[in-house]
Amino acid sequence: MMKKIFALCAALVFGAMALAGCGGSGGSSASSAGSGGKVLKVGSSIDFAPFEFQDETQKEYQGFDMDLIRAIGKEMGYEVEIQNIGFDGLIPALEAKNIDVMISGVTINDERKQKVLFSDPYYESGLAIVVREDNQDIHTFQDLKGKKVAVQIGTTSATEVHKIEGVEAKELNTPADCFMELKTGGVDAVVNDRPVNDYYITKSNTKGVKGLQDFLTAEDYGIAINKERQDLQKEINAAFKKLKDNGEYQKIYDKWFGGAKN
Ligand code: ARG
Repeated sequence: MMKKIFALCAALVFGAMALAGCGGSGGSSASSAGSGGKVLKVGSSIDFAPFEFQDETQKEYQGFDMDLIRAIGKEMGYEVEIQNIGFDGLIPALEAKNIDVMISGVTINDERKQKVLFSDPYYESGLAIVVREDNQDIHTFQDLKGKKVAVQIGTTSATEVHKIEGVEAKELNTPADCFMELKTGGVDAVVNDRPVNDYYITKSNTKGVKGLQDFLTAEDYGIAINKERQDLQKEINAAFKKLKDNGEYQKIYDKWFGGAKN
């Protein structure tokens, strides 16, 4: 008799766990059972390896940002749903509440702080120049005067390049479009985030182009959050801190940047 009751209890407990999804994320809150699965709607412009990109062999989006937001979501007890949205459409999507947050190598700056909240910074980056290998006359940002330069639309690269006198800026949809334009001779240079340039040149084994040493700006990446969601900003920062403290952030960092001398 006791055995039977025990077996019944065990079956019930297992059933409940299975229903709750039992993700095994450490079970930080008991209330998550039966909460109906909270979803974090994330937007990202999937064109920015190694931060966000699509690998033909896999159906999930890959990259440092993707791993980080999935780890943060898991820590917060959310299911993470990632939508691919062109970079210049991300802030509008956030303002329209089509997404809750965006993670997309987004540089934290004052102009954007008018429109969104930012998490604590999660990656130190900066802008750099890529030219064709045989280029002899561009070494620094000042040398871009009077040149044709490709940048991704809506980015800090676009803003910065416009500040340099006499630059003819071509704003294209993706960094890949910018590099293509460089290779085919449509522009003299590309300005884009340094770690993305490095990854493009080294990892994709690209021939015929080189990255220059000159660094235009130091920039911090942050997760952007809908302006009204201070609650979410707090939750994200707390989860991020936890991942830094428990070594999970470092693991993700090493996975993507481990071998790089950046
Ligand atoms: N860091 C730059 C910015 O915030 C470029 C980001 C581009 N991100 C992307 N996924 N294409 O403007």
